[in-house]
Amino acid sequence: MSSDKLGSKGCGGLSGGNPVSLLQECFACGVIVVGARKRIVACTAEAAEHLHQDAAKLLNAPLSSLPAPLAKLIQETVRSGKAILNREIPLGHATALRASILPVTTHKSLEIVVVLNSLTSTPVFEQNLRRLDRLAGLGTLSASMAHEIKNGMVAIKTFVDLLAQKGQDTELTEVVGRELERINALATQMLRFAAPNRAAFTTVRIHDVLDHSLRLMQHQISGKLISLQRHYKADPDTVRGDDAQLQQALMNLLLNALEAMGTNGVLTVNTETVKGERSERQLRINIQDTGVGIAPENLERLFEPFFTTKTNGTGLGLAISQRIALEHHGSIRVQSEPGKGSAFSLSLPAFTAV
Ligand SMILES: Nc1ncnc2c1ncn2[C@@H]1O[C@H](COP(=O)(O)OP(=O)(O)OP(=O)(O)O)[C@@H](O)[C@H]1O
Ligand SMILES: [Mg+2]
Repeated sequence: MSSDKLGSKGCGGLSGGNPVSLLQECFACGVIVVGARKRIVACTAEAAEHLHQDAAKLLNAPLSSLPAPLAKLIQETVRSGKAILNREIPLGHATALRASILPVTTHKSLEIVVVLNSLTSTPVFEQNLRRLDRLAGLGTLSASMAHEIKNGMVAIKTFVDLLAQKGQDTELTEVVGRELERINALATQMLRFAAPNRAAFTTVRIHDVLDHSLRLMQHQISGKLISLQRHYKADPDTVRGDDAQLQQALMNLLLNALEAMGTNGVLTVNTETVKGERSERQLRINIQDTGVGIAPENLERLFEPFFTTKTNGTGLGLAISQRIALEHHGSIRVQSEPGKGSAFSLSLPAFTAV
């Protein structure tokens, strides 16, 4: 989707190009965001239409203005911090909605994103859903999608907050725009059910991807007084790949490193060019933290989908990163010492542009 399609239509309190309007475009469905004080902080026109309510009246309204079964599910997610996916919501007058309720944790609070679809949706959407079901199991895909939306939203929220504090800032606005495009690309790809399209692979400069990812986390890094050490030695730093996917893989590793550390930790990111088993040139990205480390019995389970030791984790970050690495003919290795820290290495075939 091009950025000119990112305009906002609903009654949301967020400005144009916001995640709500983006999701709305991606899924042709209604979206409501419930804020920290259990008030509706944004809703799209379609969401209000689905609920047969006046959009303007829903904004800032309490949860009790929503149909009781929906409000109950939102409360459940607020309590458990867990997503509820594709639940049927009876509306009383022989109509029903399908709702997915996704918790989004920011550094300050928990927000709830509610995605509403009519059960009598378009045949194309129904057909796509059936294909999704056949291909991979809707549950896993929805959860995987929720995971990436969550990661993207953390970055977007952080920058939107900063923008609001600082007034207009073109550099930061550009970062928000790029993140929105990334989420959009992911969602679109999932809706097309395509395996990554190799034809879409381009020459990617890994140092740029790393710098961009680290900039998105700058807020968390400085908030935890973490010292960031960068040693970029790979030369050239280019690989063939999908830059949005590679950023996703690296962000998952970087976020895990940050989450493993308390204050005053050291995050080391270095790159090098090495020789692989068959003497082929590889670009290796090493992400090392001084965090809690990983218990030996957990090491072999790390890449299993849904394996997590975190209260609010989905356990999908590493599974997704590994899948992306494999799709780029690469691999991820890990070394860890409990109490000292961990090091994750992503190796990719090096590529020299001619
Ligand atoms: N750098 C790290 N230091 C310590 N433990 C880690 C590190 N990276 C991953 N882990 C362990 O691996 C588990 C799985 O990580 P993964 O990224 O797949 O999911 P998660 O981080 O728990 O959840 P999510 O990515 O959805 O937030 C984590 O719960 C944690 O126990
Ligand atoms: Mg993770």
